Amino acid sequence: MRNFDYQTPTRLIFGRDVVAGLPEVMRPFGRRVLLTYGGGSIKRIGLYDRVRELLKDFEIFELGGIEPNPKYSTSVVEGVRICKEQQIDVILSVGGGSVLDCSKAIAGGAKYDGETWDLITGKAPTLAALPIVDILTLAATGSEYDAGGVISRTETNDKIAYIDPHLFPACSFLDPTYTFTVNAKHTAAGVADAINHVMEQYFTHASNSVADGFCETLVKTLMKYAPVALEKPDDYEARAEIMYACTFGCNGLLALGTAGSPWPMHGIEHALSAYYDITHGEGLAIITPHWMRHVFNERTQERFVKFGLNVFGLSADMAPAEIAEQTIVCTSQFFKSLGMPMTLREVGIDDSRLEEMAHHVAVNEGLNAPGTFAPLNEQDILSILKAA
Ligand code: NZQ
Ligand code: ZN
Repeated sequence: MRNFDYQTPTRLIFGRDVVAGLPEVMRPFGRRVLLTYGGGSIKRIGLYDRVRELLKDFEIFELGGIEPNPKYSTSVVEGVRICKEQQIDVILSVGGGSVLDCSKAIAGGAKYDGETWDLITGKAPTLAALPIVDILTLAATGSEYDAGGVISRTETNDKIAYIDPHLFPACSFLDPTYTFTVNAKHTAAGVADAINHVMEQYFTHASNSVADGFCETLVKTLMKYAPVALEKPDDYEARAEIMYACTFGCNGLLALGTAGSPWPMHGIEHALSAYYDITHGEGLAIITPHWMRHVFNERTQERFVKFGLNVFGLSADMAPAEIAEQTIVCTSQFFKSLGMPMTLREVGIDDSRLEEMAHHVAVNEGLNAPGTFAPLNEQDILSILKAA
């Protein structure tokens, strides 16, 4: 068991209509609020009106139209401008992971005199950030309980994870009923994203029983309830189980005491959505089985076997290599059963830029560190992309 140091300062308020407590949570932070949201889903589900009503005693400024795969040059820059000009006290993010990630970058940029991009790339340290409260409307990223945000800069094909302890939300409101309207595509993509977060942490070369148990439970829960939510989008228990599981997928809890990992599948997927603006969870569903196949060998076999036995209930009577093979097949079949795309072509990616993307990933994502579970060099990354 490795040493660890863990703190998540975020308050989680979970359940039906918990948003009624929003004013009490917001009040200590101040009256001047930047309300951030996406392309309009919160208006369609009545949440925008509810929030405006709940916060009628506050002074609200707005940044709407935040894109999926939130963009630096439009949304982040604009949000920072508003925060500085209007002396915003607190950001209220209402939406999915993209709105929240964008809000985190704005929160850092609002407290920094230079170019916010320097904080995102780590060129300048984040010394402070505005407080963030969020109301989550899509279960997937775990951004509601972690210290990271992922920001795209289209001009340079960059999609960068900006991680700093100042970016933990102060409080996240998690009402599963808000996710009833998430369509099948984004429900499936959200589940695939969360499963992949777990796998990035499970597939490490030194783990422990507690971490493995957390991971296996989360994946089994997501695999059990995703088909239910797709079949019946307003099934409260299914949406609640998915939301709970997603929230705990990404804040490091699942990797405590383990050797960790550079999150290779995310590193590769970041290039796909940076270059082609695809849905993150779909990119992961496509990459995951190919990454598994590429890194499977005698040294990594134990993880594949344990995952197969404990998550898919495979028979221990088979040879380890056979169990591992079945584990890859079952993972792939599960994503397929959710109706997800399984090839790059299906999401509009041909082979014209695979070399360029492999190079970009190799240079920027640090996946080749010796001693990690399965180091990937540029050629490995290209092989995975070609296979996909
Ligand atoms: O923009 P609106 O109109 O709100 O519509 C959104 C968007 O089109 C819609 N949606 C959200 N809630 C809805 C809804 N539609 C109907 N009913 C609702 N209740 O869903 C679409 C996708 O939303 P988005 O926020 O982009 O999805 P998600 O939460 O999956 O976030 C994806 C982003 O998070 C990043 C990804 O890279 C991607 O940019 N990630 C963030 C992480 C983190 N902060 O820790 C970790 C992840 O690995 C991930 O990389
Ligand atoms: Zn992810």
